[in-house]
Amino acid sequence: MDDELNALRRSRMRWNTPLSEPHAQLLLDRMALGDGHLVDLGCGWGELLLRALGRALGLRGTGVDTDRTGLARGRAAAASRGLAVEFTEADAATWDVPADRAFCVGSAHVFGSAKAALAALARVVRPTGRLLYGDGFWAASPTAAAREIFGPDLLTLPDLLDVVDGAGWRVLHLSTADQLEWDDFESTSRAAWAEWLVAHPADPRAPEVRRWLDRRWREYVRDYRGVLGFTYLVLGR
Ligand SMILES: C[S@@+](CC[C@H](N)C(=O)[O-])C[C@H]1O[C@@H](n2cnc3c(N)ncnc32)[C@H](O)[C@@H]1O
Repeated sequence: MDDELNALRRSRMRWNTPLSEPHAQLLLDRMALGDGHLVDLGCGWGELLLRALGRALGLRGTGVDTDRTGLARGRAAAASRGLAVEFTEADAATWDVPADRAFCVGSAHVFGSAKAALAALARVVRPTGRLLYGDGFWAASPTAAAREIFGPDLLTLPDLLDVVDGAGWRVLHLSTADQLEWDDFESTSRAAWAEWLVAHPADPRAPEVRRWLDRRWREYVRDYRGVLGFTYLVLGR
């Protein structure tokens, strides 16, 4: 798809994860933000990072991602809110700058697995620090189609917590995305293209956009709605 449609695609999303505003506020409370340095690895456009910096004014922030569209959106949002955040184009998997707080939300795949992510994050977050780790898990027995979409490595929540424990982290907070957060996430991830399609039914790109939307809705409703879960863990050591 071209740059115009790519830039449009996620424009209706607040952040790229199933998370309501009150749930986000709860997670930021549990991160006990203060002074120091917060790094968001796989930040996308860094909306949660910006919210964190907006409430903890002594905090310095760095967002790390490889997606230039997301980074540009993050920089524009930071500038419009007067927040001094650095958005860096880099591979999060090799990031090694120590931080007092870290976010890794929906980005564990960047490290290869939850186990590898939690081990790498233990090297980045200072021993007195905290990590907000958001990851998918099987909330119900997956269908073959769901396994096909999300791969063989996704864990159940108990197995994920064993991996957390094995990497030396202690759980300070655990919550999971509810159905409304999921439905809103899936809807907003499609909304901009769905609206574009209504406005441009005869555009040469319309058939491809329609096929993409139809497939994504089919997958969500038939294959993984209520099957894929998402957990938010605030971790310390
Ligand atoms: C599901 S999104 C989560 C974004 C963000 N954490 C949020 O909650 O809105 C996963 C992000 O990982 C980023 N990503 C993929 N590979 C990466 C890499 N090697 N280094 C850094 N970021 C990467 C993608 O560009 C994407 O923004």
